[in-house]
Amino acid sequence: MNILSLDTNLLSPYATSSDKSFYKVAVQNAHSNMHAGKSIGSEYLGWLKLPLDEQEILIDSIQDMASEVRNCSSILIVIGVGGSYLGTKAIHEALKSYFGDDSTYPEIIYAGQNMSGAYLKQLLRYIDGKEVFINVISKSGTTTEPAIAFRVLRSYMEDRYGGEANGRIVVTTDSEKGALKELAKEKGYRSFVIPNDIGGRYSVLTAVGIFPLAVAGVDIRALLSGAKQAAFDLLGEDLELNPAYRYAVARQILYAKGYTIELLASFEPSLQYFHEWWKQLFGESEGKGKKGIFPASVSFPTDLHSVGQYIQDGRRFLFETLLHFEDVGDDQHIPYDPEDRDGLNYLVDKSLNEINTISKEGTAMAHSEGGVPVLKIELAKLDEFHIGYLIYFFMKSCAMSAYLSGVNPFDQPGVESYKNKMFELLGKTVLSE
Ligand code: PA5
Repeated sequence: MNILSLDTNLLSPYATSSDKSFYKVAVQNAHSNMHAGKSIGSEYLGWLKLPLDEQEILIDSIQDMASEVRNCSSILIVIGVGGSYLGTKAIHEALKSYFGDDSTYPEIIYAGQNMSGAYLKQLLRYIDGKEVFINVISKSGTTTEPAIAFRVLRSYMEDRYGGEANGRIVVTTDSEKGALKELAKEKGYRSFVIPNDIGGRYSVLTAVGIFPLAVAGVDIRALLSGAKQAAFDLLGEDLELNPAYRYAVARQILYAKGYTIELLASFEPSLQYFHEWWKQLFGESEGKGKKGIFPASVSFPTDLHSVGQYIQDGRRFLFETLLHFEDVGDDQHIPYDPEDRDGLNYLVDKSLNEINTISKEGTAMAHSEGGVPVLKIELAKLDEFHIGYLIYFFMKSCAMSAYLSGVNPFDQPGVESYKNKMFELLGKTVLSE
């Protein structure tokens, strides 16, 4: 099996040959502009070549710091919002075991991603008496939610650890600007840099993600090598040979035909936060200028017993991308029961993962027959390498898809509107730039 394969066979009723020839040329143009650094937002294309760069020095220093955190703490609090935490949480949740804490590694908990007083208060109670390290992450260094959480947690750390507190805080931020950068300088916090040419939602493969993931015991070298392989494999401009571009084009063809909501559906519950990362990536990159596919997600089979009814039979404006990993590690067989009262003996030669795969095929067939266009993304194994590959695949297809719909994939003007309204209501003096 390929590292990743994209199956668009169920789309044949929706894509005409003129669609395909139109997009073949459009993709070639967008590709050459993107790779020549001439496309809109090109100052944020650093993620495109990042996995191909030599990063050994950075990886070594991240591993050193990670082992220090592991040696002297049982909790790492990652403070950040949006692209500053979602990718880390997505990867960590996808790879860690479902139950029980592995005490070899510190527990990772998140702060600054919400404004709940109850959450922060309970977090403070939870960490009391445990050894704590903080990684505060903000590209701009000025985002309100993480800034508030950091102020509260910084004061907790100073009260608790006194002069040692500053050595237990690691900052990941811009190389030059922002309040966090200033504070780090003043307090002498150790820090990692978010490259200038990489924006929040494209930053998980920088120190933003790989430092906390290294603390959590994720094999960051394998993650980055998966991304590197994807950067090689997805380098070509030919639409037929580049699955990232085929995915982007399939989405645009469906959007033009009125399929305005994409459901990312997966069959492994540990991927729930991967959905959240994907939603941010596509939603913030494409939803602008009064257009864009709305990214939503479902976890199957759980959601087949709730919104499954709507997907099968409700209004026809949804399309579905089924994400499936062939090998998810552990598996369970169904035991033979001589009485067979539940009628399940016909399944005894199958494992749960095999049944899950069959349920995926059944879902694809049923939804497709119900008028939902279905795409399938399949990967061989749920591990660091394949997740790294998938992340790069989605980042590249997202940029291409945004370019095909004529928007800048790297800005987020809509997020600013909410912030300004909130500041107005809170009475903050906003200095105009
Ligand atoms: O993708 C983006 O740029 C945003 O979603 C940011 O990640 C998010 O707003 C957090 O910003 P910052 O890292 O500057 O605190």
